[in-house]
Amino acid sequence: MVATNQKSEVVFKDVAKGAYSKKLHTVILKDCSLNVEAGKLTVLIGPSGCGKTTVINLIAGYERPDHGEVLMDGQPVSGPNWERLVVFQETALFPWLTCYENVMFGPTARKSISREEAHRETMMLLNKVGLSEFRDKYPVQLSGGMQRRAELARALINKPKVMLMDEPFRGLDAMTRKLMQEYYLRLFEETGCTNLFVTSELEEAIILADKLLVMTNKPSKVRKAIDVDLPRPRDWSIATSERYREIKAEALELLHAEAIKGSVASGKTEIDLKAGFEKLKTARG
Ligand SMILES: Nc1ncnc2c1ncn2[C@@H]1O[C@H](COP(=O)(O)OP(=O)(O)OP(=O)(O)O)[C@@H](O)[C@H]1O
Ligand SMILES: [Mg+2]
Repeated sequence: MVATNQKSEVVFKDVAKGAYSKKLHTVILKDCSLNVEAGKLTVLIGPSGCGKTTVINLIAGYERPDHGEVLMDGQPVSGPNWERLVVFQETALFPWLTCYENVMFGPTARKSISREEAHRETMMLLNKVGLSEFRDKYPVQLSGGMQRRAELARALINKPKVMLMDEPFRGLDAMTRKLMQEYYLRLFEETGCTNLFVTSELEEAIILADKLLVMTNKPSKVRKAIDVDLPRPRDWSIATSERYREIKAEALELLHAEAIKGSVASGKTEIDLKAGFEKLKTARG
């Protein structure tokens, strides 16, 4: 079974994080508090460069906060661990292993379950993500969408307590991306594992989320947490509902305000930006 009963929550308490580049210090996150609820799909959305990957890196344990606390189930995150796994935008599959061997890798390396059990779970997961027929192919022989699905299976077999998804579908063509979103939704709805999903696509954010965290510009924090109270199981037909449109309008307003602030800070005029934004809104409907 993929299902895990170990559902964990992650909490940021007044987190600050900066970075140095050529001796110049940038504050990325400041007074950033957030809650990734147990068994829920939380989506983080915000302007480019606001610090979304930084949030993922802090939860994964790749980085430490300068101030404040990053807690999982009340305990400070002290380093990377199988309990918190990241699926990145770039493929992280081992190129010298087949699709099957990539998925088998985690449990084999950790010796967490028997080989027979790992085989059974691998076959079941490959089936769920539609890759049974491609089990003996190497990553280079798979399309971008297939690679992303293999990565989902490779992460899920480890039954992480928290799945961290850093724009995993960026760069896929529109049709493949929609398909991936539906695969991912189905997997989430079956496993009920705690998920944090980062995206810069508002429509993707709403279709997936239980809760939408809208980030501000740098120095970033959560500007608003919006409850996405759309029924599950979901698919793209939900996008025609009145509630979907209301949530989209609310989030768009917030993102708009942040885009204006960010660009005014970088020298563009507010009037230029408002005109650009209106064009975008008309084009997207
Ligand atoms: N190691 C580093 N050294 C210097 N600056 C950094 C470092 N890591 C991140 N930054 C800066 O911090 C900011 C936040 O980076 P981060 O990658 O977290 O943003 P993001 O929201 O994920 O961006 P994107 O939308 O492009 O994925 C960026 O402006 C980036 O330039
Ligand atoms: Mg990023």
